[in-house]
Amino acid sequence: MSNLKELIKQNHDWARRLESENPGFFERLANQQQPEYLWIGCADSRVPATQIADMLPGEIFVHRNIANVVVHTDLNCLSVIQFAVEVLRVKHIIVCGHYDCGGVKASLQAPSLGLIENWLHHIRDIYQMHSADFRDLQTEQEKVDLLCRLNVREQVLHTCQTTIVQQAWQRGQSLAVHGLIYRIQDGLLEDLDLHVSNLESLQQLLPNP
Ligand code: CO
Repeated sequence: MSNLKELIKQNHDWARRLESENPGFFERLANQQQPEYLWIGCADSRVPATQIADMLPGEIFVHRNIANVVVHTDLNCLSVIQFAVEVLRVKHIIVCGHYDCGGVKASLQAPSLGLIENWLHHIRDIYQMHSADFRDLQTEQEKVDLLCRLNVREQVLHTCQTTIVQQAWQRGQSLAVHGLIYRIQDGLLEDLDLHVSNLESLQQLLPNP
């Protein structure tokens, strides 16, 4: 209970500080949100979207789950994407992975975690698809790093393939999907050079049939 009291006190101090630095901040925010970004990231407590982008409440719409996975039939994630694209009309969707992701690491090991393994199988699928790329890697760390990057790429593709993003592009809405990865050790984002802003640029990313 005492921990929660401390948390609430911290919140009150934070709100007072923010309001004194930006008078009227919360009142303006209460009227509307106009974020330009949708962030799809890992639930990991060390990767808080708004903080690591050095933004304020109201600037990033956020969806987080274990290992930043965009599953074609995940109504939760799809609802977030639809609301962000069609109602908030965000300009950018950022799929952000991170190195040393516990979900990615676990998916390289034998299943032992129960229910969550059903979720991690989405990442195992990516490993299977790219298994040739892992053959020459010597260390576990290299394998985890590569799978973290490939996972971002795959989830960027899944995001682009949703009916929501496809239809936005078809009606000419300005919308770009980006893949980034975050390094917990130094707090820096890395651009994975995955930027898709229309149906043509998506074709270039897709594997040849
Ligand atoms: Co993670």
